Amino acid sequence: MEIKAVKFRKNGFYSQPFAFGGEEGTDKFDINVRYRGSLQNYLIDTGKEVILVDTGLPADTPEEVVDETSLAFTGENIKGYMDALADLGYKPEQVTKILLTHRHSDHSGELRSFPNAKVYVNAEELGAAELQGLDNLVPVTFTDGAYYNFPECQRIADGIYFIKAKGHTVGNSIIVVEMDGLFYLIHGDITYVDEALYENKLSVVYDDRPAARETLDRVREFVRNHPTVYLSTHSPQGYENLEAKRVMDLDNPVPTMLAEVDFGKQEATGKYVCSICGYVYDPAEHDGVPFEDLPDDWKCPRCKQGKDKFNKA
Ligand SMILES: [Fe+2]
Repeated sequence: MEIKAVKFRKNGFYSQPFAFGGEEGTDKFDINVRYRGSLQNYLIDTGKEVILVDTGLPADTPEEVVDETSLAFTGENIKGYMDALADLGYKPEQVTKILLTHRHSDHSGELRSFPNAKVYVNAEELGAAELQGLDNLVPVTFTDGAYYNFPECQRIADGIYFIKAKGHTVGNSIIVVEMDGLFYLIHGDITYVDEALYENKLSVVYDDRPAARETLDRVREFVRNHPTVYLSTHSPQGYENLEAKRVMDLDNPVPTMLAEVDFGKQEATGKYVCSICGYVYDPAEHDGVPFEDLPDDWKCPRCKQGKDKFNKA
């Protein structure tokens, strides 16, 4: 069995208020502290089948243009998700299972591109707009009891478990892969950057904050008690941990490397893109109303985040 990172964006960042501010408030943290960001999902090649954990961004998602006030930046395209998968040597037809950690479009973007795959997703996530119209969904109802300190799990294949971990979204889940005595935790967005796990902070993005807190507590307890390789989607630490088979040690953090950001090198189009869910606000589709003129309490129609989570595109 082997896990591979499918890398599709690089050189992004997550500011400290975004990555840490979910409970204490964004004003408690420094917007000039920007942790490195990237986007990658993961692939599990069991030797018998090819299983994807999440499926990237939709192909037409624009890049963002950021400035000093931006809370988060998903980064520059390396290539489209499907091209990144092809570069690893896999064809869409080979994929038999997709394990979806949660609905957000940077995890569910290409769900429709795999003709032979079944999409496993927490049954509580089924109402999500991103999943409508799919006829290959397998609702996960967690029929296999506890997985260590997590109360509910479902076994997917030998050594691969789907674990209920609500909070970031209502149906958020973690995938654990047991391999060579290590526990690989593909966790979706329990945290955006590893520093948030070390520092025990929730990000500002959640559907259910108490559930997100309980989940983060369980993840930290699990990491303390099991040799865990922590595989993030939004941080290069995810694939660095994978490549090094680095076991997460909460008492001995890997030294932080901050993002180096080159602001203002791109022209903005007037469009804005939600850094959480990828929704694109195009004034042409809203009677020409510029994004800047929307009321302060305007919310992303897809993920209900505020205007401050949008970047210029
Ligand atoms: Fe997410």
